[in-house]
Amino acid sequence: MSEFVKVVLVTGGSSGLGKAICERLAALGHKVYGTGRSPSTNEVLGYNLVAMDVTDSASVQRAVDQILARERRIDVVVNNAGIGIQGPAEDITPEMAQQVMDTNVIGPHRVCRAVLPTMRTQGRGLIINISSIASNFGLPYRSFYSASKAALDRYGEALSIEMKRFGIQVVSIQPGEFKTNIATGRLRPEKISEAHAPGYNKAMEVLGGSLHYSRDPDELARVVAKVIASEHPRTTYIVAQGMQRISVLAKKLLPGRMFQRMVGKHYE
Ligand SMILES: NC(=O)c1ccc[n+]([C@@H]2O[C@H](COP(=O)([O-])OP(=O)(O)OC[C@H]3O[C@@H](n4cnc5c(N)ncnc54)[C@H](OP(=O)(O)O)[C@@H]3O)[C@@H](O)[C@H]2O)c1
Repeated sequence: MSEFVKVVLVTGGSSGLGKAICERLAALGHKVYGTGRSPSTNEVLGYNLVAMDVTDSASVQRAVDQILARERRIDVVVNNAGIGIQGPAEDITPEMAQQVMDTNVIGPHRVCRAVLPTMRTQGRGLIINISSIASNFGLPYRSFYSASKAALDRYGEALSIEMKRFGIQVVSIQPGEFKTNIATGRLRPEKISEAHAPGYNKAMEVLGGSLHYSRDPDELARVVAKVIASEHPRTTYIVAQGMQRISVLAKKLLPGRMFQRMVGKHYE
């Protein structure tokens, strides 16, 4: 296998951004293993789909072992599997919150724990965490989504420093909105309390009408391919346009209350 061809594991390769990443990387000649909780092999083109539930350590280890048995190495991991959540923070049960954190934060950690021993032995490796621009600020009515992605970014930052001595790099990619199934799969409280219903309904209307949700996932996949090809990748890549991109900068520059007013107004 040439130096250029990487063995890549992409969690959540069955749909959306993960599928686009798998397709693009496979088209570039990499050996790609996507995952899904119940993968159906006849849907995929050019890459393998293996079973993995990132909330189940044994399932993660089984999938990694399966890839290692075939390839003897894993060069790149894209921690992409994730779920959304919406609802007024007050209505989100601790159980729902735990499910999101388990999938979006502990899930990538389980995958890292399964692949890092191999990457350390190899003396190199690349871990790409698919975060979100939502990690930069608390989005109203998506509190635990923002919280999970912020936690993922801080986890990745710490891991990156710890792993440098082993030749392992950690990168965060923060997408804005893309056209995938994420909205349909979002966890929602069974009941929205009366007090929060007007604010919540309005915000969901604004969110549902966002034009950015028409963006092609392959745009993000191209950035992943660029990161994999780069010898010295940056720590963070923001893949968003317009207001979404500007808000990340505004958060850094504006006084806190002013920024919160700006976000609040957007969803009114
Ligand atoms: N779309 C956007 O606008 C956007 C923006 C910013 C960040 N992101 C992030 O991008 C990533 C991909 O989301 P998407 O938009 O492509 O959504 P999607 O179309 O709903 O895809 C989610 C993927 O995650 C997998 N998944 C979910 N729970 C899993 C679990 N417990 N174990 C293993 N796999 C699991 C799903 O696989 P199965 O259901 O087949 O198991 C599916 O392949 C997520 O981390 C999301 O937070 C998306």
